[in-house]
Amino acid sequence: MIQLIRGFKDILPGEVELWQYIESTARSLFEDFGFREIRIPIMERTELFARSIGEDTDIVEKEMYTFADRKNELITLRPEATASVVRSYIQHKLYADDPVQKFYTIGPMFRRERPQKGRYRQFYQINAEVFGIDSPFIDAQLIFMLVKLFSRLSVTDVEAHINSLGCPECRPRFKEALAEVLSAATEKLCSDCVRRSLRNPLRVMDCKVPSCREAMTNAPAIIDFLCSECRLHFETVKQALEKLKIPFVIDKRLVRGLDYYTRTTFEIQTSYLGAQNAVVGGGRYNGLVKALGGPDQPAVGFAIGFDRLVEITGLKNADFKQNPDIFIAAMGENGKARAFEWACAFADSGIKTEMDFSDRSLKSLMKRADKLSAAYVLMVGEKELEEGAVVLRDMTTKEQVSIPLENLVEDIKAKILLTTNA
Ligand code: HAM
Repeated sequence: MIQLIRGFKDILPGEVELWQYIESTARSLFEDFGFREIRIPIMERTELFARSIGEDTDIVEKEMYTFADRKNELITLRPEATASVVRSYIQHKLYADDPVQKFYTIGPMFRRERPQKGRYRQFYQINAEVFGIDSPFIDAQLIFMLVKLFSRLSVTDVEAHINSLGCPECRPRFKEALAEVLSAATEKLCSDCVRRSLRNPLRVMDCKVPSCREAMTNAPAIIDFLCSECRLHFETVKQALEKLKIPFVIDKRLVRGLDYYTRTTFEIQTSYLGAQNAVVGGGRYNGLVKALGGPDQPAVGFAIGFDRLVEITGLKNADFKQNPDIFIAAMGENGKARAFEWACAFADSGIKTEMDFSDRSLKSLMKRADKLSAAYVLMVGEKELEEGAVVLRDMTTKEQVSIPLENLVEDIKAKILLTTNA
């Protein structure tokens, strides 16, 4: 038997309803905050990710699914969505009418990481990106929106972690101080980090290797190096969160695993998922639009790990079980032929309908209706057709009524819609 690829998964009926519910809750909330959906392709030129996420990141160095297509062009299955949304904003000049644009996008991402709980090679993200707004209020509003989403989805025990990564003006001084600490601890660093400490010392800060973590215990904190504008921005984010009554933790080590961030970075973390504790990652990336050839527009956004969100929501698959409103137990060729038309008409009127096409006995048909937890069973055979009426059984009360054939569809529709809408 051919099996799934490691780190990939199916989302089966019975599970998918919860995913759909989360998705529609996020869509409606985000749309109330002024976001519109954008759909971007699953593959892009490799260069787009290398230039935006950064050559020295784990994602670009080790985790991308990259291959040459038939014309030997390097293409990559997207490891994240931000780079593509930025590309689209630039390519279609979406800034021309109004530089302020707010997009959300939902879909699969691909990273060749070691699979474990909360970490997959194909995983899903719910992204939101805002362009053209420099105000720290929007950073706080994104976190507010996330907290509201989580409360609508019965997610408890999550904590917002925030930090600031400064800007091209203040970051060089921090990098210098960091490089100094790193050069004194080279023997503790993994081989990747020895290289990174020279090229991109910030990357060492999110290395997971324990000895690298140990080497970082004396590392300076970037928020102690912020220029006055970045400090003011960070202060305003914090004050806005306090005003909105959103608890947060200042996390001086939060540098995030992608190179494009400036100023605010944040994660929403949970204790439920062990090592994979971030359910959301996000932040500002003011230089990226310009770096990719667009106008100098600021941007900020986040991505929710959809798979992780599903794992921590208090909602359960059972809350979304889809039972048929009516199960049609039709017997004999004539019974089936008539019932088939009714089944089509019921389903067309928004009634969840299941009909059995086998030649089973009434007893085994009733067993199947029970197993499916159907609300009603309609029984029809030769005898009912001759007598001009079918039997409708309410599976909860066990009450049975006889329904005449003329006007049957309308009568049953009215009865069922009355109870299902009650
Ligand atoms: P990220 O931190 O790489 O950021 O990913 C965001 C979230 O995606 C993570 O917090 C996690 O919940 C989920 N995630 C990442 N990798 C995996 C995986 N292998 N399996 C399951 N879930 C995973 C970004 O992707 C940025 N583009 C976020 C952003 C948007 N920043 C600004 N705008």
